Amino acid sequence: MSRPKVLVTRAWPADTETRLGQLAETTLRHPDTPMTADEFMAAATTYDAILPTVSDTIPAAFYPAAAGRVKLLANYGVGYNHIDIAAARAAGIAVTNTPGVLTDCTADLAMGLLLAAARRIGEGERELRTGHWSGWRPTHMIGKKVSGATLGIVGFGRIGQAMARRAHHGFGMKIVVYNRSPVDQDTLRAYHAIQPDTLHEVAARSDILSLHCPGGAKTRHLIDAGVFAAMKPGALLVNTARGDVIDEDALFAALDSGHLGGAGLDVFQNEPALDPRFLGHDTCVLAPHLGSATDATRAAMGHKAIDNLVAVLRGDTPPDLVSA
Ligand code: DGY
Repeated sequence: MSRPKVLVTRAWPADTETRLGQLAETTLRHPDTPMTADEFMAAATTYDAILPTVSDTIPAAFYPAAAGRVKLLANYGVGYNHIDIAAARAAGIAVTNTPGVLTDCTADLAMGLLLAAARRIGEGERELRTGHWSGWRPTHMIGKKVSGATLGIVGFGRIGQAMARRAHHGFGMKIVVYNRSPVDQDTLRAYHAIQPDTLHEVAARSDILSLHCPGGAKTRHLIDAGVFAAMKPGALLVNTARGDVIDEDALFAALDSGHLGGAGLDVFQNEPALDPRFLGHDTCVLAPHLGSATDATRAAMGHKAIDNLVAVLRGDTPPDLVSA
Protein backbone atom coordinates (compact mmCIF):
# COMPACT_ATOMS: atom_id res chain seq x y z
CA MET A 1 0.00 0.00 0.00
CA SER A 2 1.33 3.47 -0.84
CA ARG A 3 2.35 5.66 2.06
CA PRO A 4 0.16 8.70 2.84
CA LYS A 5 1.44 11.97 1.45
CA VAL A 6 1.92 14.74 3.98
CA LEU A 7 3.00 18.36 3.54
CA VAL A 8 4.53 20.42 6.36
CA THR A 9 4.26 24.07 5.40
CA ARG A 10 7.11 25.44 7.55
CA ALA A 11 10.31 24.00 9.06
CA TRP A 12 9.65 22.11 12.31
CA PRO A 13 11.95 20.98 15.15
CA ALA A 14 14.24 18.26 13.78
CA ASP A 15 12.93 15.38 15.95
CA THR A 16 9.36 15.98 14.85
CA GLU A 17 10.34 16.12 11.18
CA THR A 18 12.15 12.79 11.65
CA ARG A 19 9.07 11.24 13.26
CA LEU A 20 6.90 12.44 10.39
CA GLY A 21 9.28 10.94 7.85
CA GLN A 22 8.83 7.56 9.53
CA LEU A 23 5.06 7.76 9.26
CA ALA A 24 4.40 9.12 5.80
CA GLU A 25 5.86 10.30 2.52
CA THR A 26 6.56 13.73 3.89
CA THR A 27 7.36 16.96 2.05
CA LEU A 28 9.34 19.30 4.27
CA ARG A 29 9.61 22.84 2.95
CA HIS A 30 13.24 23.82 3.32
CA PRO A 31 14.27 26.61 3.07
CA ASP A 32 11.58 27.80 5.41
CA THR A 33 9.54 30.40 3.47
CA PRO A 34 5.80 31.17 3.60
CA MET A 35 3.62 29.05 1.26
CA THR A 36 2.27 30.95 -1.74
CA ALA A 37 -1.38 30.73 -2.86
CA ASP A 38 -0.23 28.74 -5.91
CA GLU A 39 1.56 26.24 -3.68
CA PHE A 40 -1.62 25.79 -1.62
CA MET A 41 -3.65 25.20 -4.76
CA ALA A 42 -1.17 22.58 -5.97
CA ALA A 43 -1.14 20.96 -2.52
CA ALA A 44 -4.95 20.70 -2.60
CA THR A 45 -4.78 17.89 -5.15
CA THR A 46 -1.55 16.26 -3.99
CA TYR A 47 -1.59 15.53 -0.25
CA ASP A 48 -3.62 13.40 2.17
CA ALA A 49 -2.78 15.77 5.02
CA ILE A 50 -1.33 19.27 5.30
CA LEU A 51 0.25 20.54 8.52
CA PRO A 52 -0.01 24.35 8.39
CA THR A 53 0.62 27.02 10.99
CA VAL A 54 -0.42 30.52 12.00
CA SER A 55 1.73 32.29 9.38
CA ASP A 56 0.00 30.48 6.48
CA THR A 57 -2.54 32.34 4.36
CA ILE A 58 -4.79 29.67 2.89
CA PRO A 59 -6.70 30.90 -0.17
CA ALA A 60 -10.51 30.45 -0.14
CA ALA A 61 -10.30 28.42 -3.36
CA PHE A 62 -8.11 25.84 -1.61
CA TYR A 63 -10.98 24.24 0.34
CA PRO A 64 -13.28 23.19 -2.53
CA ALA A 65 -10.23 22.18 -4.58
CA ALA A 66 -9.00 19.94 -1.75
CA ALA A 67 -12.36 18.20 -1.21
CA GLY A 68 -12.04 14.45 -1.63
CA ARG A 69 -8.19 14.58 -1.54
CA VAL A 70 -6.99 16.31 1.64
CA LYS A 71 -8.38 14.60 4.75
CA LEU A 72 -6.72 16.69 7.45
CA LEU A 73 -5.36 20.13 8.23
CA ALA A 74 -3.36 19.42 11.40
CA ASN A 75 -2.50 22.91 12.57
CA TYR A 76 0.82 23.42 14.35
CA GLY A 77 -0.47 25.79 17.04
CA VAL A 78 -3.47 26.30 19.28
CA GLY A 79 -4.98 29.30 17.46
CA TYR A 80 -6.64 28.42 14.16
CA ASN A 81 -8.21 31.70 13.03
CA HIS A 82 -6.16 31.45 9.80
CA ILE A 83 -8.20 28.36 8.83
CA ASP A 84 -11.76 28.67 7.52
CA ILE A 85 -13.37 25.96 9.63
CA ALA A 86 -16.77 26.12 7.89
CA ALA A 87 -15.14 25.79 4.45
CA ALA A 88 -12.97 22.90 5.68
CA ARG A 89 -16.02 21.14 7.11
CA ALA A 90 -17.93 21.64 3.86
CA ALA A 91 -15.00 20.10 1.97
CA GLY A 92 -14.87 17.12 4.36
CA ILE A 93 -11.46 18.14 5.76
CA ALA A 94 -10.87 17.59 9.49
CA VAL A 95 -9.04 20.40 11.33
CA THR A 96 -7.03 19.87 14.52
CA ASN A 97 -4.90 22.13 16.75
CA THR A 98 -2.38 21.73 19.60
CA PRO A 99 -4.01 22.87 22.85
CA GLY A 100 -2.40 22.61 26.29
CA VAL A 101 1.26 22.22 25.36
CA LEU A 102 1.93 25.93 24.84
CA THR A 103 -0.11 27.27 27.77
CA ASP A 104 2.77 27.79 30.21
CA CYS A 105 5.23 29.27 27.74
CA THR A 106 2.69 31.73 26.35
CA ALA A 107 1.72 32.85 29.86
CA ASP A 108 5.43 33.11 30.78
CA LEU A 109 6.00 35.42 27.81
CA ALA A 110 2.91 37.50 28.65
CA MET A 111 4.26 37.94 32.19
CA GLY A 112 7.64 38.90 30.73
CA LEU A 113 6.08 41.54 28.47
CA LEU A 114 3.99 42.82 31.38
CA LEU A 115 7.08 43.23 33.54
CA ALA A 116 9.13 44.70 30.70
CA ALA A 117 6.45 47.29 29.86
CA ALA A 118 5.75 48.20 33.48
CA ARG A 119 9.40 48.44 34.48
CA ARG A 120 10.64 49.94 31.19
CA ILE A 121 13.20 47.20 30.56
CA GLY A 122 13.26 47.73 26.78
CA GLU A 123 13.78 51.47 27.14
CA GLY A 124 16.47 50.87 29.75
CA GLU A 125 18.34 48.42 27.56
CA ARG A 126 18.24 50.83 24.63
CA GLU A 127 19.62 53.59 26.86
CA LEU A 128 22.53 51.37 27.87
CA ARG A 129 23.24 50.09 24.37
CA THR A 130 23.34 53.59 22.94
CA GLY A 131 25.73 54.79 25.67
CA HIS A 132 23.25 57.25 27.18
CA TRP A 133 23.13 56.01 30.78
CA SER A 134 24.37 58.74 33.09
CA GLY A 135 24.07 56.70 36.29
CA TRP A 136 21.64 55.97 39.11
CA ARG A 137 19.39 58.80 40.20
CA PRO A 138 16.14 58.92 42.19
CA THR A 139 13.99 60.06 39.28
CA HIS A 140 15.48 57.94 36.55
CA MET A 141 13.22 55.83 34.30
CA ILE A 142 10.40 55.42 36.79
CA GLY A 143 7.97 52.63 35.96
CA LYS A 144 4.79 51.18 37.41
CA LYS A 145 4.67 48.82 40.41
CA VAL A 146 3.51 45.36 39.35
CA SER A 147 3.22 43.57 42.70
CA GLY A 148 -0.24 44.14 44.13
CA ALA A 149 -1.58 45.92 41.01
CA THR A 150 -4.86 44.94 39.36
CA LEU A 151 -4.62 42.77 36.25
CA GLY A 152 -7.55 42.53 33.83
CA ILE A 153 -7.55 39.29 31.87
CA VAL A 154 -9.54 39.14 28.64
CA GLY A 155 -10.29 35.50 27.81
CA PHE A 156 -10.16 33.09 30.74
CA GLY A 157 -9.29 29.82 29.02
CA ARG A 158 -6.14 27.81 29.67
CA ILE A 159 -3.67 30.61 28.93
CA GLY A 160 -5.71 33.31 30.69
CA GLN A 161 -5.84 31.14 33.82
CA ALA A 162 -2.12 30.37 33.60
CA MET A 163 -1.54 34.14 33.49
CA ALA A 164 -3.81 34.62 36.52
CA ARG A 165 -1.86 31.92 38.42
CA ARG A 166 1.45 33.67 37.80
CA ALA A 167 0.12 37.16 38.47
CA HIS A 168 -1.92 36.38 41.58
CA HIS A 169 0.15 33.68 43.27
CA GLY A 170 3.52 35.04 42.13
CA PHE A 171 3.01 38.80 42.24
CA GLY A 172 0.04 39.26 44.57
CA MET A 173 -1.97 40.91 41.77
CA LYS A 174 -5.73 41.32 41.99
CA ILE A 175 -7.44 39.60 39.08
CA VAL A 176 -10.51 40.82 37.16
CA VAL A 177 -11.77 38.73 34.30
CA TYR A 178 -13.64 39.31 31.05
CA ASN A 179 -14.82 36.13 29.36
CA ARG A 180 -17.61 35.57 26.84
CA SER A 181 -19.28 33.03 29.16
CA PRO A 182 -19.53 33.08 32.96
CA VAL A 183 -16.51 31.50 34.66
CA ASP A 184 -17.47 29.04 37.39
CA GLN A 185 -17.02 30.21 40.97
CA ASP A 186 -14.42 27.57 41.91
CA THR A 187 -12.18 28.67 39.04
CA LEU A 188 -12.53 32.35 39.98
CA ARG A 189 -11.88 31.52 43.67
CA ALA A 190 -8.60 29.76 42.75
CA TYR A 191 -7.19 33.18 41.78
CA HIS A 192 -9.35 35.34 44.09
CA ALA A 193 -10.70 36.70 40.81
CA ILE A 194 -13.91 38.55 40.06
CA GLN A 195 -15.83 38.68 36.78
CA PRO A 196 -17.57 42.04 36.26
CA ASP A 197 -20.39 42.19 33.70
CA THR A 198 -18.70 44.12 30.92
CA LEU A 199 -15.34 44.52 29.23
CA HIS A 200 -15.46 48.26 29.93
CA GLU A 201 -15.84 47.57 33.64
CA VAL A 202 -12.84 45.21 33.56
CA ALA A 203 -10.84 47.82 31.64
CA ALA A 204 -11.81 50.54 34.14
CA ARG A 205 -10.61 48.49 37.12
CA SER A 206 -7.30 47.34 35.61
CA ASP A 207 -3.82 48.79 35.96
CA ILE A 208 -2.78 46.33 33.27
CA LEU A 209 -5.03 44.59 30.73
CA SER A 210 -3.75 41.33 29.22
CA LEU A 211 -5.39 39.64 26.22
CA HIS A 212 -5.79 35.85 26.05
CA CYS A 213 -8.89 35.36 23.88
CA PRO A 214 -8.93 33.55 20.52
CA GLY A 215 -8.57 35.55 17.30
CA GLY A 216 -11.16 35.62 14.52
CA ALA A 217 -14.26 37.53 13.50
CA LYS A 218 -15.84 37.48 16.99
CA THR A 219 -12.92 39.22 18.68
CA ARG A 220 -11.66 41.44 15.85
CA HIS A 221 -11.04 44.93 17.27
CA LEU A 222 -12.54 43.93 20.62
CA ILE A 223 -10.06 46.37 22.13
CA ASP A 224 -11.27 49.56 20.47
CA ALA A 225 -11.34 53.28 21.23
CA GLY A 226 -14.14 52.73 23.77
CA VAL A 227 -12.08 50.20 25.73
CA PHE A 228 -9.02 52.46 25.69
CA ALA A 229 -11.16 55.34 26.94
CA ALA A 230 -12.47 53.15 29.76
CA MET A 231 -8.94 52.24 30.91
CA LYS A 232 -7.28 54.15 33.75
CA PRO A 233 -4.91 56.92 32.64
CA GLY A 234 -1.43 55.42 32.41
CA ALA A 235 -2.67 51.81 32.33
CA LEU A 236 -0.79 49.22 30.27
CA LEU A 237 -1.89 46.70 27.65
CA VAL A 238 -0.35 43.25 27.00
CA ASN A 239 -1.21 41.12 23.96
CA THR A 240 -0.02 37.56 23.34
CA ALA A 241 -3.33 36.51 21.69
CA ARG A 242 -3.82 37.75 18.13
CA GLY A 243 -2.95 41.11 16.60
CA ASP A 244 -6.36 41.92 15.22
CA VAL A 245 -8.00 41.72 18.66
CA ILE A 246 -6.68 45.28 18.99
CA ASP A 247 -7.77 48.14 16.73
CA GLU A 248 -4.25 49.46 16.12
CA ASP A 249 -5.47 52.92 15.02
CA ALA A 250 -7.22 53.22 18.39
CA LEU A 251 -4.10 51.90 20.13
CA PHE A 252 -1.92 54.59 18.53
CA ALA A 253 -4.47 57.29 19.39
CA ALA A 254 -4.38 56.15 23.03
CA LEU A 255 -0.58 56.08 23.04
CA ASP A 256 -0.30 59.47 21.29
CA SER A 257 -2.60 61.13 23.81
CA GLY A 258 -0.64 59.58 26.68
CA HIS A 259 -3.82 57.99 28.08
CA LEU A 260 -2.32 54.53 27.54
CA GLY A 261 0.92 54.27 29.51
CA GLY A 262 2.51 51.61 27.30
CA ALA A 263 2.13 48.14 25.91
CA GLY A 264 3.84 44.76 25.71
CA LEU A 265 2.95 43.17 22.39
CA ASP A 266 3.85 39.79 20.87
CA VAL A 267 1.32 39.87 18.01
CA PHE A 268 0.36 42.50 15.44
CA GLN A 269 -2.51 43.25 13.09
CA ASN A 270 -0.58 42.73 9.83
CA GLU A 271 2.32 40.65 11.05
CA PRO A 272 5.05 40.20 10.07
CA ALA A 273 4.71 43.76 8.70
CA LEU A 274 5.11 46.05 11.69
CA ASP A 275 3.18 49.32 11.58
CA PRO A 276 5.99 51.94 11.52
CA ARG A 277 4.09 54.00 14.10
CA PHE A 278 5.30 51.51 16.74
CA LEU A 279 8.86 52.69 16.21
CA GLY A 280 7.93 56.13 17.52
CA HIS A 281 6.57 54.71 20.78
CA ASP A 282 9.33 53.89 23.22
CA THR A 283 6.83 52.75 25.84
CA CYS A 284 5.90 49.73 23.70
CA VAL A 285 7.84 46.51 24.24
CA LEU A 286 7.66 44.52 21.01
CA ALA A 287 8.30 40.81 20.42
CA PRO A 288 8.05 38.88 17.13
CA HIS A 289 5.28 36.37 18.03
CA LEU A 290 7.40 34.36 20.46
CA GLY A 291 4.67 33.08 22.83
CA SER A 292 5.33 29.40 22.24
CA ALA A 293 8.96 29.74 21.15
CA THR A 294 10.84 27.41 23.50
CA ASP A 295 12.55 24.18 22.51
CA ALA A 296 10.32 22.00 24.71
CA THR A 297 7.08 23.63 23.60
CA ARG A 298 7.80 23.75 19.89
CA ALA A 299 8.69 20.03 20.00
CA ALA A 300 5.53 19.24 21.98
CA MET A 301 3.41 21.17 19.46
CA GLY A 302 4.87 19.10 16.63
CA HIS A 303 4.26 15.83 18.43
CA LYS A 304 0.69 16.84 19.20
CA ALA A 305 0.02 17.66 15.54
CA ILE A 306 1.53 14.30 14.58
CA ASP A 307 -0.65 12.47 17.14
CA ASN A 308 -3.65 14.01 15.41
CA LEU A 309 -2.33 12.93 12.02
CA VAL A 310 -1.74 9.35 13.24
CA ALA A 311 -5.32 9.16 14.53
CA VAL A 312 -6.75 10.33 11.19
CA LEU A 313 -4.54 7.95 9.20
CA ARG A 314 -5.86 5.11 11.40
CA GLY A 315 -9.43 6.18 10.73
CA ASP A 316 -9.95 7.38 14.33
CA THR A 317 -11.32 10.71 15.54
CA PRO A 318 -8.26 12.88 16.26
CA PRO A 319 -7.88 14.01 19.89
CA ASP A 320 -7.81 17.73 19.08
CA LEU A 321 -10.52 18.00 16.45
CA VAL A 322 -11.82 21.60 16.19
CA SER A 323 -14.02 21.14 13.13
CA ALA A 324 -16.56 18.69 14.60
C1 DGY B 1 -0.60 29.55 18.54
O1 DGY B 1 -0.34 28.38 18.80
O2 DGY B 1 -1.72 29.94 18.28
C2 DGY B 1 0.53 30.52 18.58
O3 DGY B 1 0.17 31.81 18.39
C3 DGY B 1 1.62 30.11 17.61
O4 DGY B 1 2.70 29.83 18.42
